[in-house]
Amino acid sequence: MIVNKVVEEYIRKKSQTDNKLLREIEEFALKNNIPIIEPEVRNFLGMIVKIKKPCKILEIGTAIGYSSIIMKMASKDSKITTIEINEDSFLEAKLNIEKFGFEKDIHCILGDANEVIELLEDEYDLIFIDAAKGQYINFFEKTIDKLKVNGVLVSDNILFRGMVAEEKYKTTRHRKITIVKRLDEYIDLLINDKRLSSSIVPIDDGMMITYRNE
Ligand SMILES: C[S@@+](CC[C@H](N)C(=O)[O-])C[C@H]1O[C@@H](n2cnc3c(N)ncnc32)[C@H](O)[C@@H]1O
Repeated sequence: MIVNKVVEEYIRKKSQTDNKLLREIEEFALKNNIPIIEPEVRNFLGMIVKIKKPCKILEIGTAIGYSSIIMKMASKDSKITTIEINEDSFLEAKLNIEKFGFEKDIHCILGDANEVIELLEDEYDLIFIDAAKGQYINFFEKTIDKLKVNGVLVSDNILFRGMVAEEKYKTTRHRKITIVKRLDEYIDLLINDKRLSSSIVPIDDGMMITYRNE
């Protein structure tokens, strides 16, 4: 929680979906402790996709397919490639994607994104990074050349419950210190990259929206 709790709850309440299948996935995720994007992030991500109308999307971190489905619902002509390292999640994602009839346009790949990305030959209009937080720099370095000029990179959870904004988690011994430091470095890397324009959005766990100018 990084914004005022009352405000966050208000926005979340206003962002609920009445789509039965989406709600079933949300309930499954909650019951099985699978982290998926929160309702306000879902709406925001869907909005970015609606505005950008990307032909090709790359997602790192499928989980059970929820955010892929959201992006596909937002842009019917998009083709999505999504990578997931966990086999159980990957299989559940495939089932969920079939329930929506999106199996032709959402291609799920089982594997470690660090290895899979290197095998991808396409270029993408939009890349969504939502996997291991400590590896964002690796994911970025491997995907940036695959992001088209005028493309958009969306990075989720970049503020890590707000800890990234607090010096004490970067300077003292703390269990989460490595992730916090790495996310802080990731933010600096993107902000200082002259090819890119980035904006940090403090919803849920923090999102970063990055535009590739050149
Ligand atoms: C926060 S969840 C993704 C949630 C999903 N984007 C959604 O909102 O519906 C992060 C996922 O990334 C996966 N993951 C972690 N490290 C990965 C890696 N190196 N390659 C591919 N997937 C990875 C995890 O197994 C987990 O399912």
